[in-house]
Amino acid sequence: ELKDNTIIIVLGASGDLAKKKTLPALFGLFRQNFLPRDVKIVGYARTKMDKVEFDKRATSYIKGADENPELANQLEAFKQSLTYVSGGYEDGESFEKLNEHLEGIESSYKSKECNRIFYLALPPSVFIPVTKNIKDHCYVTRGGKNRIIIEKPFGKDLESARSLLSSVKQYWSEDETFRIDHYLGKEMVKNILVLRFANIALGAAWDKNHISNVQITFKEPFGTEGRGGYFDEFGIIRDVLQNHLLQVLTILTMERPVSFSAEDIRDEKVKVLRAIPPIEKTDTLLGQYVSANGKPGYLDDDTVPPNSICPTFAACTLWIHNPRWEGVPFILKAGKALNEAKVEVRIQFKDVTQGIFKDIARNELVIRIQPNEAVYLKLNSKTPGLYTRAIPTEMDLTYKRRFTEAKIPEAYESLILDALRGDHSNFVRHDELDYAWKIFTPILHWIDGQNGVRPKPSQYPYGSRGPKELTHFVEKFGYKRAVEAYFWPVTNM
Ligand code: BG6
Repeated sequence: ELKDNTIIIVLGASGDLAKKKTLPALFGLFRQNFLPRDVKIVGYARTKMDKVEFDKRATSYIKGADENPELANQLEAFKQSLTYVSGGYEDGESFEKLNEHLEGIESSYKSKECNRIFYLALPPSVFIPVTKNIKDHCYVTRGGKNRIIIEKPFGKDLESARSLLSSVKQYWSEDETFRIDHYLGKEMVKNILVLRFANIALGAAWDKNHISNVQITFKEPFGTEGRGGYFDEFGIIRDVLQNHLLQVLTILTMERPVSFSAEDIRDEKVKVLRAIPPIEKTDTLLGQYVSANGKPGYLDDDTVPPNSICPTFAACTLWIHNPRWEGVPFILKAGKALNEAKVEVRIQFKDVTQGIFKDIARNELVIRIQPNEAVYLKLNSKTPGLYTRAIPTEMDLTYKRRFTEAKIPEAYESLILDALRGDHSNFVRHDELDYAWKIFTPILHWIDGQNGVRPKPSQYPYGSRGPKELTHFVEKFGYKRAVEAYFWPVTNM
């Protein structure tokens, strides 16, 4: 763990990711005293600005200081740790200048050791020159650690990902590299391993003999809104399925690791990924939102090329060829501009043996990742009173109710802390990414029109549940809606 003499350098400090996620997460850690003592945070980007301007931008997403004097004080203290350097990404001289700035800070250290953490909140176009320039000009060799945190997109398909990763690898060792998938920092995603392996009752039912189908769902109630330029080049599959949802699937299905060490966990993740064949076209449903209820359609976004057929919704069914999971469909689905904000895992168990019960609802275990974190098990119980009917009800662990005092950390807070501690278990290893791309590359090439006509996504209205074909799609893979509408009591909210 890094304690003293640490500088965190945020590259791309004037961009969206830094402003919305990285810097607020650093502040979150700072105010809870999780950052190393006397830490310094250095912003770096092309934009020329002075410290006052940078401080303002860096803290613009931190809310509540006006009403909370304690927070305001902490924010002032945080600003003391910030400095800013402007410079280009491609030229060595700019990085020399950055290095001088860092050495200036380090000259006050009592010991020679210094640690530098480089956080790249940058577009992929400058990834390679930046990783090289940092290594050539800003890498410390007089004791202490250098670490680099990078974030998707890691390429667009297997080939481009391999070339990107191998360039980074020329300069940075696996041990120094932290590849973020921020879903791995989410509390409920981290909870999956505990739910599975610390509960014999759940663990016992976790296989093809008991589970009929699994859905991992990501829903956002807004469209690309100005981010269309980036999005159109990637599409929802690269944006969400290939990384965030596949990571959740991996943790949900991997075998029990020998220990909680990073390599033991990631070895198991890789094993299950290797058992997943590339997705079939016939197991895929694509959609694109159109204008409805006064909300703009995807093509109405000025940053989107006219006539784009980029999917903003996708459902893909994956299969795992191993003894635990053979035959169980895993449906990953994600969409922009849907009817609600929700990310959840829904495990639907098989029917009980018929006979004494007919048409009885199936058990479902739902892990709600966000918002309003919860784990609930839908189960049948006897209707209270002088009846013998079974009724679907639930065992409910809603975090807000059960852990009233707990503050759930932001994913980025938890991951930056891991990187400071040198713990790789919630970061993506290079071989994991390689297998992840193998699973998705063929359908991505099909969607991009590399082997012929590009498939046209089905249209769905902004604010709807997705393409109308979705109901049939999930039913085709065995999902059964309860006969009796499941009633979720209002007190849960
Ligand atoms: C990002 C995607 O990786 O994840 C975005 O690029 C998406 O399109 C975001 O909105 C969702 O993250 P979260 O933490 O809000 O669920």
